[in-house]
Amino acid sequence: MSKTVSLITENYNKYNPDSIDEYINIGGFTGLKNALNMSSDEVINIAKASKVMGRGGAAYPLGRKWEQARSVPGDNKVVICNADEGEPCTFKDRSMLENDPFRLIEGMAIAGYTVGAQNGYLYIREEYRHLQPKMKNAIKQAKEKGYLGNNILGTDFNYDIHVYSGAGAYVCGEGSALIESIEGKSGRPRIKPPFIKQCGLNQLPTCVNNVETLAIGTALLTHGAEKYLSYGTAECPGTKVISIAGNVNKPGVYEIPFGLTLREIIYDIAGGVPGNKKITLFQLGGASGKIGPPSLLDTPYAYDDLHKVGLVIGSGAILVIDENMSVLEFLKSIQEFFCHESCGKCTPCREGNKQIAHILDRLLAGTQKDTDISTLIRLAKLMSQASFCGLGETAQSALLNAIRYFPEEFGLQ
Ligand SMILES: Cc1cc2nc3c(=O)[nH]c(=O)nc-3n(C[C@H](O)[C@H](O)[C@H](O)COP(=O)(O)O)c2cc1C
Ligand code: SF4
Repeated sequence: MSKTVSLITENYNKYNPDSIDEYINIGGFTGLKNALNMSSDEVINIAKASKVMGRGGAAYPLGRKWEQARSVPGDNKVVICNADEGEPCTFKDRSMLENDPFRLIEGMAIAGYTVGAQNGYLYIREEYRHLQPKMKNAIKQAKEKGYLGNNILGTDFNYDIHVYSGAGAYVCGEGSALIESIEGKSGRPRIKPPFIKQCGLNQLPTCVNNVETLAIGTALLTHGAEKYLSYGTAECPGTKVISIAGNVNKPGVYEIPFGLTLREIIYDIAGGVPGNKKITLFQLGGASGKIGPPSLLDTPYAYDDLHKVGLVIGSGAILVIDENMSVLEFLKSIQEFFCHESCGKCTPCREGNKQIAHILDRLLAGTQKDTDISTLIRLAKLMSQASFCGLGETAQSALLNAIRYFPEEFGLQ
């Protein structure tokens, strides 16, 4: 029996994603209609009851975010859909843009109504620029049918959606850097406070949500919280759209109920490792996510269970690395990514990433100095505590878990 489910991805391959009529024929925009018949408090209560955590990586509760955004004073607010999807191995948001663009438009409108926004901005990563015409077409059709624009569905709700792409920097997925990028500036994070919920895009109160989070919003308002809560476990209800890649037979995007074990996901859903090779490690949540050893494969894929063993869901990526690659080689590849993507604004991240890369080079070449391991650990901890933004704070997540789970690689055992 299939272990995958279909709630957030329920419309994939069910309609022509370029046709709003086909979307409406399969029940599209029911969620928005339901939302507009409720108060924003009622919508927020549905989001809270569902216990949905934001899918952008930080796992911030959706109901709380919408409630805070709604309560910020201001009659001109903004919703941003974060489709930057820059985490390596993460491609589940792309699948939503490709297969069900109207669900996202609907989710953005529901979010706009709930928080009291007049404008939504869809920020699509540069590498997905080819999806801009598809999204613009969906927005145009939604306007023609009265699901966007003025007096939506005969109410006094006015809401429009604008599409933007950046220049292709990972850090632009961070909310304030993303806003700088839309404003036409260099995509670097802003100092906080002020927080973007109070002073974001063009100094307006701004609510940033991930693609999948907004797509869940559509499901919640279409089917009710109960349906979402019927999946997963008591502690971690619902479903998750994951992208799995690396050394697996069937890489791809899958929707799963929370609570399956990593082993079930890797072997039963993604078809196991080619050639039945052994797994060296897996990484959850993209390059900024944590790595784990094969001994943790029976951990349930759920927020608390993963947290207990030092893992995270993060972006929803699952990367499997087989015995052909060593832990140190893997860490070096991650390190190259962060050296390239550090925006250079703060010293811990700009210099720390480079120094760690040098030490990893020496470890791989067997030419390390006596002090290298202690320096490595000190730098990694310092970066996670002193960096200016989440990029530097999480760049060493894999390294710190490697020291915990593979101490022999560093001569620590
Ligand atoms: C360096 C960095 C990159 C990020 N990239 C993304 C991204 O590509 N997509 C995304 O949704 N969130 C990304 N985030 C998280 C966002 O800042 C933000 O928390 C998220 O979009 C909020 O949406 P959510 O509440 O629906 O999870 C990134 C954060 C950091 C620090
Ligand atoms: S942590 Fe890195 S990406 Fe973030 S501001 Fe500092 S240098 Fe830039």
